[in-house]
Amino acid sequence: MNSVQDWPEPIIRVQSLSESGLPIIPERYIKPAPDRPSFIDPEDSDANIPIIDLTGLSGDEACNLPATTLDQISSACREWGFFQVVNHGVSPLLMDQARETWRSFFHLPMEIKQAYANSPKTYEGYGSRLGIEKGAILDWSDYYYLHYLPLTLKDYNKWPASPDSCREVIDEYGKEVAKLCGRIMKVLSMNLGFREDCLQNAFGGENFGACLRVNFYPKCPQPDLALGLSSHSDPGGLTVLLPDHEVPGLQVRKDGKWITVKPAKHAFIVNIGDQIQVLSNANYKSVEHRVIVNSAMERVSLAFFYNPKSDIPIKPVEELVSADKPALYSPMTFDEYRLFIRLRGPKGKSQVESLKSPR
Ligand code: OGA
Ligand code: NI
Repeated sequence: MNSVQDWPEPIIRVQSLSESGLPIIPERYIKPAPDRPSFIDPEDSDANIPIIDLTGLSGDEACNLPATTLDQISSACREWGFFQVVNHGVSPLLMDQARETWRSFFHLPMEIKQAYANSPKTYEGYGSRLGIEKGAILDWSDYYYLHYLPLTLKDYNKWPASPDSCREVIDEYGKEVAKLCGRIMKVLSMNLGFREDCLQNAFGGENFGACLRVNFYPKCPQPDLALGLSSHSDPGGLTVLLPDHEVPGLQVRKDGKWITVKPAKHAFIVNIGDQIQVLSNANYKSVEHRVIVNSAMERVSLAFFYNPKSDIPIKPVEELVSADKPALYSPMTFDEYRLFIRLRGPKGKSQVESLKSPR
């Protein structure tokens, strides 16, 4: 297998480019016309992804959600692959602290951040590109990537030491969001007609994985030519995104159009990743999304990825496979799957499509 050692070109921090005050962006960041934000008129500028109230979900009780809420979640998973949740049980204060702590990290002097510079081998640390294709067109963002679980991968030395209390806040945030994911997994299992622990068991039970990517999108002098993050579907299980409360940017693909998400106050944005698309035999969709940038405001977002144990084969749950509805995917471990993406960078939905069993 191809071994990944280092980036194919010297890394340029997008934040430094932005702060240098260039009036135009380097060619490396200019997307081909069909991929540009302005290519399709945003006709549905009022549209939004569903907003779902999770009052009743918190606590250890399996699930006290009303049937109408379960139905809303079911439709959102089938039709959108995305929804926002409010009253989700994670403290608004912790959400704000987590986002603002990370914002402060990105505002630290470059020398401090460079100490955490990442490599394509594990991606952990401070990064500025996904994929190692030489000459690739790049996205207008920097990021920080770290592991919470499994504990064998959790390494505080790879987490930022400053700003003060950064590690504590990140830790607490991860614990709370992982609990929320556990509860959402139960709801999805029941909605698919399984026992509530079915999906979690398919993820390896307590041995699931969890990691965080914090995205930093600097101001961009030519936002119509670039993307903050190219179109992709999330490779993992479930994603819980804490968006910037002031700056929109996330767009979700729906019926061929890009819908700009308008975050509700203290909401999380939840989306189905490729692994749940596979487990659900495509009843639930891992939907393409991307991020646009703007010239007036930077944007910070925290994407928490809740993933299967990385070395167990993931394949459609047997109850969803029948003569009428054969398994759409061949088994693959998340380790194998992730390697694709780490080599190629964001490529729409081509990864999960390529898992389709030949027939
Ligand atoms: C991601 C992602 C969206 C955003 O990190 O996978 O889709 O709004 N982020 O930053
Ligand atoms: Ni994503």
